[in-house]
Amino acid sequence: MSKVIIRNGTVVTATDVFKADILVEGEKVTAISQHLSESAPKEIDASGCYVLPGGIDAHTHLDLPFMGTFSSDDFETGTLAALHGGTTTIIDFAFQTPGKSLKEGLEEWHQKAKGKAAADYAFHVAVVDFNEKTRSEIRDLIEKEGVTSFKTFMAYKGALMIDDRQMIGLMNEVKKWGGLVTVHAENGDLADSLIQINRDKGNKAPKYHALSRPEIVEAEATGRAIDIAYAGNHPVYIVHMTCEGALNRVKDAAKRNQRVLVETCIQYLLLDDSVYERPGFEGAKWVMSPPLRKPKDQEALWKSLEQGLVHVVATDHCPFCMNQKEMGKDDFSKIPNGAPGIENRMELLYSEGVEKGRISLTKFVEVNCTNPAKIFGLYPEKGTIAVGSDADLVILDPRVEHTLSQETQHMNCDYSSYEGWKVKGKVKTVLLRGTVAIENGKAHVGKGFGKYLRRKKWQEK
Ligand code: URP
Ligand code: ZN
Ligand code: ZN
Repeated sequence: MSKVIIRNGTVVTATDVFKADILVEGEKVTAISQHLSESAPKEIDASGCYVLPGGIDAHTHLDLPFMGTFSSDDFETGTLAALHGGTTTIIDFAFQTPGKSLKEGLEEWHQKAKGKAAADYAFHVAVVDFNEKTRSEIRDLIEKEGVTSFKTFMAYKGALMIDDRQMIGLMNEVKKWGGLVTVHAENGDLADSLIQINRDKGNKAPKYHALSRPEIVEAEATGRAIDIAYAGNHPVYIVHMTCEGALNRVKDAAKRNQRVLVETCIQYLLLDDSVYERPGFEGAKWVMSPPLRKPKDQEALWKSLEQGLVHVVATDHCPFCMNQKEMGKDDFSKIPNGAPGIENRMELLYSEGVEKGRISLTKFVEVNCTNPAKIFGLYPEKGTIAVGSDADLVILDPRVEHTLSQETQHMNCDYSSYEGWKVKGKVKTVLLRGTVAIENGKAHVGKGFGKYLRRKKWQEK
């Protein structure tokens, strides 16, 4: 059995920060101690560094067919980039094709990932047509396939959107078998009507994407999804929340003692809608749904992390190269929605969150690692550092300063959302299930190393 010791690091979990040595045997952490007297063939000195649980990105889109093209990272390039940035597990979305079964969608995504993923992976299933047939598949997906969460879209009418009746039906069915419904909360009809108004006026530029999806589009749908969940006493998880208006709906729910699970993404914490004013077509780089918001929304999101109203920071990694973005050169509504970020999440949240004093180290681990593992049924194998847990470990050196750039990133995208961004703190070494996967910027694992993770059922804590 392989043996690795990480010495002299500062171990961080969602609750504790302490100096310790960690013994890894095979795929597991087998001892954590102030000083390990034994030795191992591979010893890593983590003096001056933090030792963190492997990051879990609960929201990615690799090899996704979307808006007439495919996201530009596949399971090989996307998961390798994730590993470089300290993310050892991703949860991607297996989409149902309208008219086909959920199981066929899941099978399609297994084919995309198998033999390609370098990091561990799991799937949410995106239900784009909830009917009697798809209803009958939910139990097996949860109990046999280990898919315990389902995504719904309240926007993208005609492609992905389901109506409220379907949402209610899905929540009822998923709860019966112990799963969790996640929601892309934007009012699709309202967004479509604003898009039409802008197109009729001849407004073509990327900024009209954001102007067609204002805060109220998200806030209304967020409130509706939360109310539907409340009526049925269902748990609900809102993906990629961006704004104060939506957070206010979460606060209203808290007043009636409803617990709503909330995810935001790193870009909504760090970037604002001023990027849409950049000259020419450059704003297309950040065309995503929901769009980037105002500084006041970033402020509200940061505060909500500390308050525990936002539980998870993900990426919604869905990259498209500029030639793909150009499909919307003359019509903002045809710009493929999405941006890269899978590689940057951990370092950016450390640098902007912990280093700048906005969140604590334990909160950093909680929202990047522990909460996604707990919410999506991967804990305690993933999401923490404990005896018996998978040895998914990230050594981050807080002293190293570096600059993010397309030229040095591993994501398959011809731009960086954070070009020139100065970051304090660098991922130095990454272990995935006891194997050194990344060391000083070099990958030691490759395609096929990642393992499919069957997830446990959602359990209300
Ligand atoms: O713009 C986005 N978010 N693209 C990916 C699909 C989604 O809505 O999550
Ligand atoms: Zn979405
Ligand atoms: Zn998404």
